[in-house]
Amino acid sequence: PETGCLSIVVLGASGDLAKKKTFPALFHLFVQGFLQSNEVHIFGYARSKISDDDLRNRLRGYLVQGKTTDSEQLEEVSKFLQLIKYVSGSYDSAEGFQKLDKEISEHEISRNSIEGSSRRLFYFALPPSVYPSVCKMIKHYCMNKSDLGGWTRIVVEKPFGKDLASAEKLSSQIGELFDEPQIYRIDHYLGKELVQNLLVLRFANRFFLPLWNRDNIANVQIVFREDFGTDGRGGYFDEYGIIRDIIQNHLLQVLCLVAMEKPISLKPEHIRDEKVKVLQSVLPIKDEEVVLGQYEGYRDDPTVPDHSNTPTFATMVLRIHNERWEGVPFIMKAGKALSSRKAEIRVQFKDVPGDIFRCKKQGRNEFVIRLQPSEAMYMKLTVKKPGLEMSTVQSELDLSYRQRYQGVTIPEAYERLILDTIRGDQQHFVRRDELKAAWEIFTPLLHRIDNGELKSIPYKQGSRGPAEADELLEKAGYVQTHGYIWIPPTL
Ligand code: BG6
Repeated sequence: PETGCLSIVVLGASGDLAKKKTFPALFHLFVQGFLQSNEVHIFGYARSKISDDDLRNRLRGYLVQGKTTDSEQLEEVSKFLQLIKYVSGSYDSAEGFQKLDKEISEHEISRNSIEGSSRRLFYFALPPSVYPSVCKMIKHYCMNKSDLGGWTRIVVEKPFGKDLASAEKLSSQIGELFDEPQIYRIDHYLGKELVQNLLVLRFANRFFLPLWNRDNIANVQIVFREDFGTDGRGGYFDEYGIIRDIIQNHLLQVLCLVAMEKPISLKPEHIRDEKVKVLQSVLPIKDEEVVLGQYEGYRDDPTVPDHSNTPTFATMVLRIHNERWEGVPFIMKAGKALSSRKAEIRVQFKDVPGDIFRCKKQGRNEFVIRLQPSEAMYMKLTVKKPGLEMSTVQSELDLSYRQRYQGVTIPEAYERLILDTIRGDQQHFVRRDELKAAWEIFTPLLHRIDNGELKSIPYKQGSRGPAEADELLEKAGYVQTHGYIWIPPTL
């Protein structure tokens, strides 16, 4: 592992993302000993003119859990906050970034006896509109000092543009200043435990190898549901909609891992090569295989235009044109203000041929990966109903994490991904060609929605979404099991 001075710069330090995700993730890494206080300095950068202590005080409440009086924890928080310095400046003027460079350099020079002492990580907790100018400023004023060794990396997050053209424009603006190995495009779904497990499941288990194809699998669903609306984010959300917010990135990344071929090795480039191939094999989405919805009350948000057609719900069928998946619908479903909150992958198998139990009506085999909450994997299967009669019943083989891995804390997605950026591992980050391929899939559909050619159907808050979505699911061949429900085991 590398040693020497590490400077982590959080740009947009007083914003929502920084407070809620970036700093808490850094704090957890600190507590676990991944950020040594003799090596690491954290810089917050933003426009507002506040002091170091102002920023620290603003962050404190996001780091302390509940109303704890646990003195050990409070002390950890204080130690962590002492690592943070604040620099104020604009996102497009030399002055602020020169000041930032000076601060970072002072910290580095005081330790310049160590090799690789100029490691600089810039975390963009910023709106993408300022990415190009911030990249320019970093490139001109804040790169690592080559005589001290080390590196400079930038971490950026969606939205990467609004369609293929704008995303490509942003990519080339950034690409002119930084090389691909320096750019970490975060998709936090790639940091979730059960998303990271997909590769292991699929390629380290004999069980799945022969079954994972069109001969056995009837359909795959990738589902994201939230039981709250766009609360306070209406302005941002209305510009983007659920497809750009969730499906084009988070759910599509999951689809890649479910559908891709086995990579040559676990090297990040080998894995990303396979993901790109899957994306390039996705056929154009057909309008008749899309259902859009918007929850009633969405437009009451003062930041949302009165006639907005922006979908807060979407179900659509993606079709992968290759040897493994031809004819298998991949149903992507995402919605806000629904009846429950969960994210899962549901792989439904075909009926048993020549069935002698006549249990088709009862349900099909399903393999479900619950990403959150209550992380679990379960296989829904038919068994003999215990007792004297020969009848069948739906049951499950259940691997529920909370029960199976008691006492193990599952790390937050951001925590894991930030650690990867420090270690220089790009496996769980989106490569430029991957991003492009993802936009190619959705851009025609998004343009038709933006032009008002496809309309969002209203649905009630706290419902399942528009009934048309369930009809589409059925048309795509999904067979619902009635009278069976998996309940996560409680301890
Ligand atoms: C974000 C979206 O990327 O992911 C939000 O912008 C969404 O709209 C969030 O709520 C969901 O993340 P998670 O990890 O809670 O499923």
